[in-house]
Amino acid sequence: MNVLIIGSGAREHAMCWSAALSEGVRRVFVAPGNGGTALMGGKVSNVPLKATSLDDLLRFAVDNDVELTVVGSESPLELGIVDLFRRAGKKIVGPTQSAARLESSKLFSKEFMHRHGIPTAGYSVFRDAQSASCHIGLAETRYPQVIKASGLCAGKGVYIALDKEQALSAIRELFEERIFGDAGNEVVIEEFLQGEEASVFALTDGTAYRLFLPAQDHKRIGDGDTGKNTGGMGAYAPAPLVTAEVMQKVEERIIQPTLKGMRDEGAVYTGFLYVGLMIDNAEPFVVEYNARMGDPECQVVLPLLKSDFVQALMASVDGSLDEVPFEMHRKSAATVVIASGGYPDHYETGKPVTLSDELAAMEDCMLFHAGTAYEERQLVTAGGRVFSVTALGSTLRESIDSAYRAVEKISFEGACYRTDIGAKAL
Ligand code: AMP
Ligand code: GLY
Repeated sequence: MNVLIIGSGAREHAMCWSAALSEGVRRVFVAPGNGGTALMGGKVSNVPLKATSLDDLLRFAVDNDVELTVVGSESPLELGIVDLFRRAGKKIVGPTQSAARLESSKLFSKEFMHRHGIPTAGYSVFRDAQSASCHIGLAETRYPQVIKASGLCAGKGVYIALDKEQALSAIRELFEERIFGDAGNEVVIEEFLQGEEASVFALTDGTAYRLFLPAQDHKRIGDGDTGKNTGGMGAYAPAPLVTAEVMQKVEERIIQPTLKGMRDEGAVYTGFLYVGLMIDNAEPFVVEYNARMGDPECQVVLPLLKSDFVQALMASVDGSLDEVPFEMHRKSAATVVIASGGYPDHYETGKPVTLSDELAAMEDCMLFHAGTAYEERQLVTAGGRVFSVTALGSTLRESIDSAYRAVEKISFEGACYRTDIGAKAL
């Protein structure tokens, strides 16, 4: 069968890699893909279509006998790509536009959790600067307060205000300067949760679900979780923080009621469900839902999947997820993101990349490209996050050491990365 993967990051490169391992797969198309997927060869080829050009993607899928499409990032989901493909009778992995509100509207997701008794931070919703400022000024308001634009802001619409001044400044940016446009029309202000974060990923057909290994992301740019927030600078799995006991609570208190709640509300949730958690004394709380796989977490959880990825995806679309194998390797994985100098602020692109030949020979090591392009037979940087270097090991320590050994074999001007990925778990 032919498979189409939509997106251009390291997450989508990892999905291509995993899909290409599947025996039943003849061709893997990726739209638009990146320099890494362009260089994969074999079954994999790039298709020059943007992830948000929904009609063109559907036409491509129809014209090229694509039997299964997988959506990597949230934008096409919010635009309703799943609804469009289903109307045309094409199989696609992901939630409908209505179900994707779990990610695309923080207002919807907070109210949904409230309706279904799913543990999350207490919150209030504001639609104008004046009422938000009033709330911030109240004597009983305790800091930090977390202030969030309700709509999609590519992970940038969250402020952790340490005091009243910072909170007022966030409100000004959202309501007056409108730096996130309409995504900031509704603002959620919530209590600050203590604890440590982890991500749990489920694949679901709406009723049955299967769990990947729990992972932990590293969102800040600097070592020791310092500096600005990024798209994610590295990840590892399994995260020991998510013990069997915690996972059981996550399933019973979060995943099962979420899927049931969505079914009961007539917005059956299918595809990947990403639960961003804060875990405090083994008690899990939802920080956010995402309607897709995480990036960079996908680059560790997929290589740890032993079973056939595409077979599981197909079963999630056909409603037979509990009939297929879904086993994990008994290994650990770590991924280190190499970014362009200056990221997450201004950075330059077009820097030639040198990859040492030794890299290809490293066992259990996968180089996933994020922002690269392959132009005139030269690999160049093309984004803020450039690579996600994954290694597997029999222990977490081994996978981390091996990932960092691989990182040293990659060079381009201005390359930077965190040196402490996974250190917290050791
Ligand atoms: P979100 O986009 O909702 O995942 O928020 C981005 C990041 O902000 C999260 O990964 C957390 O690190 C932090 N964050 C969000 N909400 C809270 C909260 N209620 N308490 C503490 N930290 C939070
Ligand atoms: N790892 C963060 C995200 O994918 O949103």
